[in-house]
Amino acid sequence: MKRRSLLTLSLTTIVAITALASCEPPQPGQNATSSSGKKVLTMITSPEYPPYEYYDTGSGERKIVGFDIDIANKIASDLGYELKINESDFNGLIPALQAKRADFVIAGMTPTPERQKNVDFSTIYYEAKNTIIAPKSSNLKTTKDLAGKTVGVQLGSIQEGDAKKIAEKVPGMKVKQLNKVPDLIQEIKAKRIDAAIVEDTVAKGFTDASTDLVFNVIPSEGPSGSAVAFPKGSPLVADFNKVLEKMKASGEIKTLAAKWFATSAPPSPSPSPSGSMSPSPSKAP
Ligand code: ARG
Repeated sequence: MKRRSLLTLSLTTIVAITALASCEPPQPGQNATSSSGKKVLTMITSPEYPPYEYYDTGSGERKIVGFDIDIANKIASDLGYELKINESDFNGLIPALQAKRADFVIAGMTPTPERQKNVDFSTIYYEAKNTIIAPKSSNLKTTKDLAGKTVGVQLGSIQEGDAKKIAEKVPGMKVKQLNKVPDLIQEIKAKRIDAAIVEDTVAKGFTDASTDLVFNVIPSEGPSGSAVAFPKGSPLVADFNKVLEKMKASGEIKTLAAKWFATSAPPSPSPSPSGSMSPSPSKAP
């Protein structure tokens, strides 16, 4: 009895493995055609990152909206595709591209050399800076103030890497990784962490909503800004770059930034969207 069920189990496993091995990983977008006859482009994002991507629950219908979503919709329609949006934790986005479960990621994702080993990136469409979010009363404003403090970051984000670099220089600073940015805010409020490192436009939204919290911009520890990510070798990179360049030249990106970031423009000394370590002349206003 026991032996037979074991045999059945292993046979089933073999059949399953063979089935898996014989079918190519699905190629989203390239094959799929929607009911409207348009080819479908599948994107994946992590919708807990207002104003880049988040669930708008206001209209009754739960819908992913944001700066990135408008950009994705524009690119897809310009290129003649219908857009399908899937979601995952931020940390699962690059693995999803590697497994070809999506044609692209748009998630406020920063192109880093580390990520470039596994995925390809478009040009940068928006620049950002890191900030410390903390209770107003705590006076945690600079990286030095983080000595002996527990600082939250999103798992798999550049902020996680940046916080680890800061912790090497700041005595007693501990880094705590969480899956979602709203969870970082909750943990600060619950006093389970002292502060969090979050990018400026996102920090602005959360601190506007919680007046007991403030954010302060800190110096950059590495690459910053947002780009679209693709599976390595994707033919879509060039097409996306063309539309992005067009959107930059026509001022459309600026208009969208004003739409989504207007009430949440970071109170930084420089209004220039350049937040990288070295000033990039091409991005000067
Ligand atoms: N720009 C940062 C990074 O690339 C954070 C992006 C987080 N995005 C998100 N949808 N949660 O690591």
